[in-house]
Amino acid sequence: MKILMVCLGNICRSPLAEGIMRSKIEKYNLQADVDSAGFEPFHTGDAPDYRAIKVAKQHGIDISGIRSRLFRKPDFEKHDRIYVMDSGNYNDVKALSENKTQMQKVDYILNISYPGTNKPVPDPYYGGEDGFEKAFQMLDAATELIAMELKDKNMVI
Ligand code: 4NP
Repeated sequence: MKILMVCLGNICRSPLAEGIMRSKIEKYNLQADVDSAGFEPFHTGDAPDYRAIKVAKQHGIDISGIRSRLFRKPDFEKHDRIYVMDSGNYNDVKALSENKTQMQKVDYILNISYPGTNKPVPDPYYGGEDGFEKAFQMLDAATELIAMELKDKNMVI
């Protein structure tokens, strides 16, 4: 199972989602892989925002090695599931898609926790550190449910 986490800058929400999901893959010995990408080229090649690194570290997760990269068309074929953070990301992914099969892999990550609601993980970039903690909690809950689903399907090593 190859999972891709997508946000706008790939320096706040999606690297947090990647790091948290990776920690759960290790914790539950899941046969899964996770990556992240974004759509805003300004931060390409950068490490995650220092506030995202700090919040993750407070929860025992190191995301400092992640580097921002852009979402590209081959990501549709490389991944089984593509989780976006908000409607802007959804529309950005949709604009690059070429068929319905590709879009069937795409969903809002909070639809895992709140099915069918298309709730966003609010972008914490322009706010304070509490926004990063809130994003962490939302992503932790959603990725725990993803991990439980994979575990139930016996996708363990
Ligand atoms: P992210 O937050 O999408 O959660 O990584 C952002 C970070 C940077 C920018 C936008 C969103 N930016 O435009 O620089």
